[in-house]
Amino acid sequence: MFGLFVGDTNRFGIMRLDTPVSSRNIKLAILGIVVFAVLMEIASGGEVDRLAVGKAKFDMLCGVCHKDDHAAPLLAPPNFAVQRRYSMEFGNDKDAFIKAIAQWVVSPSEEKSLMVGARKKFGLMLAMPYSEEDVKLAAGYLFDADLEMPVDCDPSMEVSGTEVGKSVGGG
Ligand code: HEC
Repeated sequence: MFGLFVGDTNRFGIMRLDTPVSSRNIKLAILGIVVFAVLMEIASGGEVDRLAVGKAKFDMLCGVCHKDDHAAPLLAPPNFAVQRRYSMEFGNDKDAFIKAIAQWVVSPSEEKSLMVGARKKFGLMLAMPYSEEDVKLAAGYLFDADLEMPVDCDPSMEVSGTEVGKSVGGG
């Protein structure tokens, strides 16, 4: 109140008085950012939000190559193809699914590869220098996501040269 009064009458007074106000704004802004970060952290702990966070990670870290359609020029098997192949291998074992993908992403190799057809088509995936936590979130999303494999999708993108792959993809 007093400050405003002085401010009205003295131009330099306003400047001096402005300083504490704007630094308070900065503190508020920082507080806002901290609160936001904490909320995000809490959110990422919840199961439902974990899926959303996982999707965001997948889109950001994997989605460029693992697209959700098979019409676009492709760099890699689409997300539903990877999901289908890894689900065939690991069934309902989410932990094993996530672990296999986490190990794959940091060091892909022919021995680990399940998607032989895709590997031949696109070449071995390059190792990605992502954090384990990020990859596990992305892999968790891939496990849980409701993705449908289009029937007209090229079977070599789905699976592999294995007999199982041929019989599943062939229809
Ligand atoms: C720069 C492109 C690129 C990015 C980014 C990428 N991948 Fe891949 N990925 C590929 C290619 C190409 C293949 C197919 C060849 C292969 O299997 O090695 C592949 C294959 C895979 C496979 C199947 C491996 C197999 O053969 O069994 C999995 C699982 C996979 N990627 C997971 C991921 C995940 C998870 C991410 C993100 C954290 C990711 N990829 C990011 C290019 C990419």
